[in-house]
Amino acid sequence: MGKKGRVFSGARPTGRQHLGNYLGAIRNYVALQDDYDCVYCVVDLHALTTLADTEYLREHTYEMVLDWLAAGMDPGPTIIFVQSHVPQVTELHTILSMVTPMGWLARLPTFKEKVRQQPDNVNYGLLGYPVLMAADITLYQADVVPVGEDQGPHLEFTREIVRRFNHHFGDTLVEPEMKLTDVPRVLGTDGVNKMSKSLNNHIELATSPEEILERVMTMVTDPARQYRTDPGHPEICNVFHLHQHFSPDAEAIVQIEADCRSAAIGCVEHKQWFARDLADYFAPFRARRAELAADPDHVWEVLADGAVRARVIAAQTLAEVKEKVGLP
Ligand code: TRP
Repeated sequence: MGKKGRVFSGARPTGRQHLGNYLGAIRNYVALQDDYDCVYCVVDLHALTTLADTEYLREHTYEMVLDWLAAGMDPGPTIIFVQSHVPQVTELHTILSMVTPMGWLARLPTFKEKVRQQPDNVNYGLLGYPVLMAADITLYQADVVPVGEDQGPHLEFTREIVRRFNHHFGDTLVEPEMKLTDVPRVLGTDGVNKMSKSLNNHIELATSPEEILERVMTMVTDPARQYRTDPGHPEICNVFHLHQHFSPDAEAIVQIEADCRSAAIGCVEHKQWFARDLADYFAPFRARRAELAADPDHVWEVLADGAVRARVIAAQTLAEVKEKVGLP
């Protein structure tokens, strides 16, 4: 088929996916399948670093992968698996940790942020998080890693570890290229914070049209627009911003922009329009999801098959790494 190389990405099991996940990750995951051999991983071990939600790991894994499949991730060509099902990653993590200076880890902004967020649980896994991530990426010899901008420092870290490893032990690991998503920051219904489950400012892909409308009606629009007759500023309105991604018709967006500025259209009317387009956009997704969910074993079968295929690549890389390092 002559693909351009291998893509790897991982996502923590967060359950049902929302518009932020869709625009920031899933959409790209699906599109990349055309040009690359793709490997997508549910990073359950990484999820253990923030202990709070581990009782939901199984359910969250199921719901997330169901969304992935319904959105067009194709388990035929694409390897979809759970990180802990391929234990080689923990071995590679240990080996990579030996070429990782402590200072690099402690300096990472993502680590510092976690220390602030969970001061009572600054565990060793949290410090080693980027090493495990580097092991994910290099175990599958990924050429390209699609991530959001928050993962930039982790990717740069991975590249440095690869260079260090290859310098010490000879060319072994592939230095991955980062592929930033084109929608870096999707705001939630509050119009201020990044869309996230924990802030409950999200809209799930699997939501019914009625619930979509309900959620959209709560969205914060241009705060300067207090009255129906006030002119709006679409460039700072999150409804307008999101609508651009889900409208079937680019001209409608141009019209809405003009009508918002001239107050020809009100926020309520625009929200109803957006909710309709959003519900329509995800109608095939909802149908496909229901179809897949009819067989509750399906997701687990996909993941079991993915793990078998992932292990083949993992075993190969790890054997080479061990030989280069000189392990007897
Ligand atoms: N750290 C990533 C995140 O929080 C998840 C992740 C783990 C990942 N391993 C990865 C992403 C490997 C890309 C490649 O989103």
